[in-house]
Amino acid sequence: MDCDSDELVFFVNGKKVVEKNADPETTLLHYLRTKLRLTGTKLGCAEGGCGACTVMVSKCERPSGNIIHYSVNACLAPVCAMHGLAVTTVEGIGSTKTQLHPVQERIAKSHGSQCGFCTPGIVMSMYTLLRNTRQPSMETMENAFQGNLCRCTGYRPILEGFKTFTKEFYCGQGENCCKNGPLNPRENDRLFEPSEFVPLDQTQEPIFPPELQLSNKLDNKLLVFRGERTTWLRPVTLNELLDLKAKHPQSRMVVGNTEVGIEVKFKNMTYPVIIAPTHVPELLEVKHTNTGITFGSSVSLSRLNQILVETVNKLPEHKTRVFAAIIEMLRWFAGDQIRNVAAISGNIMTASPISDLNPIFMSAGCSLIVSSKERGARELLLDHSFFLGYRRTVVEPDEVLISVHVPFTSENEYFYAYKQAQRREDDISIVNAAMKVEFEQGGNTIKQMALSFGGMAPTTVMALRAAQQAVGRKWEDDLVTDMCGWLADDLPLTPDAPGGQTEYRRTLTTSFFFKFYLSVQMRLSEAKVGLSNVPRSYRSALPVYHREPIKSTQVYEEVPEAQSEKDAVGRPLPHKAGSQQATGEAQYCDDMPYADGELYLALVTSTRPHAKILNIDASDALKMTGVKAFFCHKDVPGNNTEGPAAVKDEEVFASEKVTCVGQVIGAVVADNQVHAQRAAKAVIVEYEDLPAIVTIEEAIEAGSFHPPARSMSCGDVDQGFAQSDHVLTGEKRVGGQEHFYLETQVTRAVPRGEDGEMEVFSSTQAPSIGQFMIASALGVPANRITVRVKRLGGGFGGKETRFHVLMVPVAVAAFKLNCPVRCMLDRDEDMLVTGGRHPFLGKYKVGFSNSGKILALDAALYSNAGNSADLSLAVMERAMFHIDSCYKLHNVRVVGHLCKTNLPSNTAFRGFGGPQGLMIMETLINDIADYLGVSPLEVRELNMYKENDVTHFDQKLVNCNIRRCWDEVIKQSNFHRRRQEIDIYNSENRWKKRGIAVIPTKFGISFTATFLNQGGALVHVYQNDGSVLITHGGTEMGQGLHTKMSQVASRALNIPISKIHISETSTNMVPNASASAASACSDLYGMAILNACQIIMERLEPYKIANSKGTWEEWVKAAYFDRVSLSTTGFYKTPDIQGFDWENNKGMMPFNYFTFGAACSEVEIDCLTGDHTVLRTDIVMDVGTSLNPAIDIGQIEGAFAQGYGMFTIEQLKFSPQGSLINRGPGAYKLPGFGDVPVEFNVSLLKGASNPRAVYSSKAIGEPPLFLASSVFFAIKDAISSARADAGVPGLFKLDSPATPERIRMACVDQFTKQFPPAEAGSYKPWFVHV
Ligand SMILES: Cc1cc2nc3c(=O)[nH]c(=O)nc-3n(C[C@H](O)[C@H](O)[C@H](O)COP(=O)(O)OP(=O)(O)OC[C@H]3O[C@@H](n4cnc5c(N)ncnc54)[C@H](O)[C@@H]3O)c2cc1C
Ligand code: FES
Ligand code: FES
Repeated sequence: MDCDSDELVFFVNGKKVVEKNADPETTLLHYLRTKLRLTGTKLGCAEGGCGACTVMVSKCERPSGNIIHYSVNACLAPVCAMHGLAVTTVEGIGSTKTQLHPVQERIAKSHGSQCGFCTPGIVMSMYTLLRNTRQPSMETMENAFQGNLCRCTGYRPILEGFKTFTKEFYCGQGENCCKNGPLNPRENDRLFEPSEFVPLDQTQEPIFPPELQLSNKLDNKLLVFRGERTTWLRPVTLNELLDLKAKHPQSRMVVGNTEVGIEVKFKNMTYPVIIAPTHVPELLEVKHTNTGITFGSSVSLSRLNQILVETVNKLPEHKTRVFAAIIEMLRWFAGDQIRNVAAISGNIMTASPISDLNPIFMSAGCSLIVSSKERGARELLLDHSFFLGYRRTVVEPDEVLISVHVPFTSENEYFYAYKQAQRREDDISIVNAAMKVEFEQGGNTIKQMALSFGGMAPTTVMALRAAQQAVGRKWEDDLVTDMCGWLADDLPLTPDAPGGQTEYRRTLTTSFFFKFYLSVQMRLSEAKVGLSNVPRSYRSALPVYHREPIKSTQVYEEVPEAQSEKDAVGRPLPHKAGSQQATGEAQYCDDMPYADGELYLALVTSTRPHAKILNIDASDALKMTGVKAFFCHKDVPGNNTEGPAAVKDEEVFASEKVTCVGQVIGAVVADNQVHAQRAAKAVIVEYEDLPAIVTIEEAIEAGSFHPPARSMSCGDVDQGFAQSDHVLTGEKRVGGQEHFYLETQVTRAVPRGEDGEMEVFSSTQAPSIGQFMIASALGVPANRITVRVKRLGGGFGGKETRFHVLMVPVAVAAFKLNCPVRCMLDRDEDMLVTGGRHPFLGKYKVGFSNSGKILALDAALYSNAGNSADLSLAVMERAMFHIDSCYKLHNVRVVGHLCKTNLPSNTAFRGFGGPQGLMIMETLINDIADYLGVSPLEVRELNMYKENDVTHFDQKLVNCNIRRCWDEVIKQSNFHRRRQEIDIYNSENRWKKRGIAVIPTKFGISFTATFLNQGGALVHVYQNDGSVLITHGGTEMGQGLHTKMSQVASRALNIPISKIHISETSTNMVPNASASAASACSDLYGMAILNACQIIMERLEPYKIANSKGTWEEWVKAAYFDRVSLSTTGFYKTPDIQGFDWENNKGMMPFNYFTFGAACSEVEIDCLTGDHTVLRTDIVMDVGTSLNPAIDIGQIEGAFAQGYGMFTIEQLKFSPQGSLINRGPGAYKLPGFGDVPVEFNVSLLKGASNPRAVYSSKAIGEPPLFLASSVFFAIKDAISSARADAGVPGLFKLDSPATPERIRMACVDQFTKQFPPAEAGSYKPWFVHV
């Protein structure tokens, strides 16, 4: 193997690429972005979990010559694996300069792109689907998106836009279909017009490169690619493969690279030799035999699925029961992009304890053929003896897995498999299982049984004794009881087991068996074998998950017929950059081309939660390839002490002490990211550990708080309690949340070379804060630093302040080296260092009357603020302002404490403490209802605010539309009828339960720090063509701010929106801007722009009078020739508001106004697993007079999805030492496409004007988020029914998020009771609730 490296040859967007120095460690994504400068394909996670990097790969299958297309995660695909293939990226299918592809056009026009960072990946998933299926079904389409995430849109608009490609959209009438015709002009429930879409013409797609089709010369030769650390070998015959494996027994084999890629990127593994067995015919063969099917080990999971589906459709049902179980399991196995490349061999040979296929293969009795050069082939049974330990098998290092034989089942055999994960789609199992039973001929006596489980030990395990004990038993109810005991013995799990959730995991094993038992019993009774039938109410445990395609409506008020065509206000216009985002042309910070000599920075971060720094040694790192410098606190030219808010309690680089895992200690700068990151890991930091505080409880015990504590009260609380008929006390934990903006934090700093000037490009929400922090750290005046922001790939509060942990080090490095430096954090780094939403603990005592009227509330709120103050005080204040939710509290006392812990500083996150405060109030309302045995609806209505009521912070509620939203949503959702239907459903079903809840919301609009409520704008009008350039202080992060602002200017200047452009946000254009936050941007900048436009209009007035029939262009020109300035600033400060006087407990109008809404959600839960589905959500939202209904509805749906994640599946797991365990989309689950409510109806409240904001609109970014708690309370309602069936009705505690674990364990029954929780303090948990 000492020949030279071969040339890598492949095609990208029809162009041939020949690479002489292909490095096996380079991913396709890196190659596309840095080498080919195709930056449309995005990096969101580098672990196959977000789909931002999706591209289409096409290959010519030999010998058939068929061209096949499949979607691929470019972040995991090694570029070397592309030899002989054709890659299509988002740039290859359409462009704004030529023509948008219909997929690009439809996602843009249907409002499916907000920040746009996920958009190219979603476009490519859809494009690939359409290349393979002319008119897919909705179900096929929804499945094609299992591997894509979007954090902004809530997915509904994407699905609705792309629905126009599906069978369901067309009724078979072809061109006569009514959906092709124009809409009823006054109809107001459509946000886009499908008849305007360019039709899909599949004959126009780019052709497969003839060179690849005509010749197989790139496929039939042993290849060698040598890189910096790794050599890639691609054999094409079995002999070559066995030869290579004999020579390199320690080599890694790579097919899909979906395991190995993760090991190299995140686990620091280096593999000097990689062998790709992708072209060895024997490993790709599929043989149908008399006993089953033999699959070559390199067969991909997609192909496995396809062959099994074909076989199931052909053969008698009883023969294919294992196949059916595999097909069902593959539905929930990763997403298309992974399944298309991942091989059967990879799943078996990785030997992961949570492999989804291994339990099936084991219980089914699959056999394997392995082979080595020296000893030839041997057959192995994939049974309990195959796995030797964690990720170890009996296969010898020089052996290769050749094939897997999957057997048929007989008529007497039944086979089922189960999987439970945090999220149903594209998630790894918490526990999975596969179970087989064989009966004696014609009866229900067990002849043989096989039970395999994943997630219960370091390997997939078989419950051998349990299976053995069952032999000879009848399939009758007492078997379940006995089996529960046997399984508990066979599958022990200590409370401190890795992965945690031990009681839940143990409960799942027996719950799965119970499902298996019922399913088989059902089959036996259908076959008239056995005595008993499955009771009707138990059948709900049986059906496999099925979801109807989504249905939705969006209802809004159309603009008045008399409104001028030019006037864009109120129209549902698409996001201004939607087309650029859909084609990949939209530039994000890291898409900027590299300048000559530009360097890359990697952070060196603390591995200890609390420790003295004894020594930092970067000497080894500095010797490494490509490394230019290392910087620490000693290198900061100006002030190392900093803080993004009022309190300066942070450092650019930690100097003496670290106070959390992930705190920035230093930075390595190198010629590229790989070198910088490798060297950063080589920096040695010596610590002396100090005691650490991680959880809120630990902080309370230690008295560890950031000052000050806040308190707020009104009325006479003690008297209120004295008058109460009942007093309840309770506690509620509301978990934190990761922002998971799709674009991670990024900064690029470019020194200008004179006077300390520097230009900084960033993805920040707060350019001015960044400017001031950099100036302080560099010791230069602020006027030398310009921070520029084109757009953000999502922010959600995560880029409001915490960007500084990256931005300032990058600026320091660029300043010291006097050259451009950039860094875009990897997802795991970003999640580790930047903090998230504050976890809260609320302790409350509430007094109320017999009817449920609240008479007194005494609440203490504790937030886990982390290691610095950041914005925690303001977050707490907002939680306290929102503790009333929508209810009149006459007597209330609330205190707020900021727990100082050794976690990364928590920060702003959409809702900013509001959702936590609201959640605590809605919880106690539910408690009151449960306690009194009345409907929560009644208690809510009884206490609900009315017009002119005064809040507990002395603010009068005017134009209070809570009740209107509430009444409308109850009507729109048919709540009362559905409540009855649900009660009937629940009385008939024991193991599935439904629940419903209606939740109102009220959200205060304004920064509570009054001085921040100001905004500036700059408007230029160009005399040659009358085009207008606007700059304002807000950043575009997907919320459609620039679109709305252009609409405002269009009305103010009375010109079409096409004449208006907003290019970027920059500190040298509009100074001292507040962060784009608090939902306030449209209000502040809309008014500032209006102010500037009015000034311009006043200046043009004489020319309009002089030429009343003239045009805008003529008036502008006339003014110019008259030497009138066509440029002006505009300014706005919110009137009247004065905040809250905390010293004197006095409200002075902290909020400008309130946004109101209400939601009703219905869910179904699986009581045996904790799974849930949102069946329907209705929302009515008061957005005033909408500036843009499409954007407002987009914000409502996006916020709802984010809130849904917060209250259900998003769960940050910290080790007891304060280290974040789940640092990427693989382990931290955000809602996916499959989590959109099956029916989702959103209406904007009609006739609700708002005199306190621009053109009578209302702020919308944050207020709807809390409405997702309707899902939480619907889940709680469903659990109540399960508990009532189990004999434990009434009040119970459910913390947020309502994860599958919490749902399952709250549905107490015989299975949960078998595994009571271990005593707290008797063991060290794997993760803690912080
Ligand atoms: C986003 C994502 C989601 C995932 N979801 C799931 C999931 O839901 N369920 C699940 O079970 N897994 C999941 N996985 C894990 C992974 O996709 C599977 O295990 C997959 O089958 C691995 O196949 P591969 O071809 O990519 O493996 P590779 O990474 O190419 O190889 C994996 C290992 O197999 C060995 N190997 C490969 N071929 C042979 C051979 N012929 N002989 C001997 N050894 C061989 C290699 O040496 C290597 O150690 C997921 C992974 C990702 C990244
Ligand atoms: S970047 Fe590839 S899947 Fe996230
Ligand atoms: S638009 Fe999907 S992540 Fe922003």
